[in-house]
Parts: sequence; C-alpha cells; structure tokens
Amino acid sequence: DTDTTFATRLIDWHRCHGRHDLPWQHTSDGAPDPYRIWLSEIMLQQTQVDTVIPYYARFLARFPDLAALAAAPVDEVLALWSGLGYYARARNLHKAAQAVADFHGGNFPSCAESIARLPGIGRSTAAAIAAFAFGKRAAILDGNVKRVLCRAFGVAGFPGERAVEARLWTLAESLLPQTDVATYIQAQMDLGATICRRSRPACARCPLADSCVAHREDRIAELPAARPR
Ligand code: ADE
Repeated sequence: DTDTTFATRLIDWHRCHGRHDLPWQHTSDGAPDPYRIWLSEIMLQQTQVDTVIPYYARFLARFPDLAALAAAPVDEVLALWSGLGYYARARNLHKAAQAVADFHGGNFPSCAESIARLPGIGRSTAAAIAAFAFGKRAAILDGNVKRVLCRAFGVAGFPGERAVEARLWTLAESLLPQTDVATYIQAQMDLGATICRRSRPACARCPLADSCVAHREDRIAELPAARPR
C-alpha cells in the first residue's frame, strides 16, 4: 500500500529480487571484509558488475589483503587493472592502501568521514563501505540513486548542479531506515541498475511505482533532467 515507507518497500523488494550472490558480499567466515568491499566499490564506480567480477577475482588472488596491496609496486597494480579503464582508480587504490598501512595501523577506518579522506573515495562510496563493512547508518548518492530519487520524488533540475545535489543528499539522509541500512543501500543500487534504468525502466516490476511521481505524471523521460546547455 502507498503508506509503506520508501525504505521498507526497497528492503522487501531486495529480499526477493535483489542480488545476494556477488563475490564481495560473502567471505569464508561470514564477516564482511572491509578490504574486499572497498576494492569492489572502487571497481564498480564506473564499471558494471559482470565486467568487474573476473578483474576482482584476479586482483584478490594477487593482492589478498591490504598489506599485500600496500607493499606492491604501482606498476603491478596498474597491470591488473589493465582493461578496466579509469586508471586513476588503481593509482588511488594503491595510495589509499599505503595511507591505511601508514596512518591507520593497517586497519581500514570504520567511520564514513575517515573513509572519505582516503584517496579516490567520495562521500557516497565512503558511506557504502561504512554500511557494508561496518554496519554504519550512512546515505549513498551515486548516479543510480540520483535517478531513482529524482523520479520517485519528482526532483526537477540537473542532478549534477550543486543546489540539486544538495537537495538530493538531504532527501537521501531523510529516507535512511533505522535498521537494515546495508540491505537498503544494496537495494537502491540494484533497483537503479536493473529496474529504474535510464532508458526503458521496468516500472511494471518496480516496488516504488505506485508512489513514484515520474511514473504517475508520465515524466520518466524528463526525470532526471539533462545537463543544461
Ligand atoms: N555499484 C556500485 N556498488 C555496487 C554494489 N555494491 N552492487 C552493485 N552495483 C554496485
């Protein structure tokens, strides 16, 4: 029904339809590994899940933990990144591993603000790592989530513009559930990737459709707004 909250709808949807089988979601002892979660989030920043999976496996085989990555020559890190593109991600990954080794005693920091100070990690990626690896309550706002929020709440304006982005961050914070934040965040990412696609979104299968402004007002094509020109 339309009274069910945004977060509850997404969490319930994720139980049945979200992705639960991604390699970084599981470790042999069942405890989340911040190093693996961080590596996966950096690879996933500009690259799709299916492309990332084999690179992720090769990278982990060569650099099984943060200490191994910090100690490696940067050229070896770049060689393993070869083909993924956006090589600044690999350079920053290596620098961040050295920063964690040098300034955090080798332990990945657990609060989103500290994580966001590491090279290559912005506010949204830091929040995702804090939630997935440490169970923290922090909002994300990547490109997929911006699209979902603009449509669901009818947020006008180009989301790359400061004022619009600030409004979206406030909205994202206000929608955070009190519990199950990691599931909620994964649900937002999965909904944006598989249902609320940029073109031809699958509204018939969307758990938010009956409360979505863009769907109700037939404005899917114009939300989120394009970059002004
Ligand atoms: N894109 C960025 N992070 C992701 C994740 N954890 N799962 C799926 N897609 C993602």
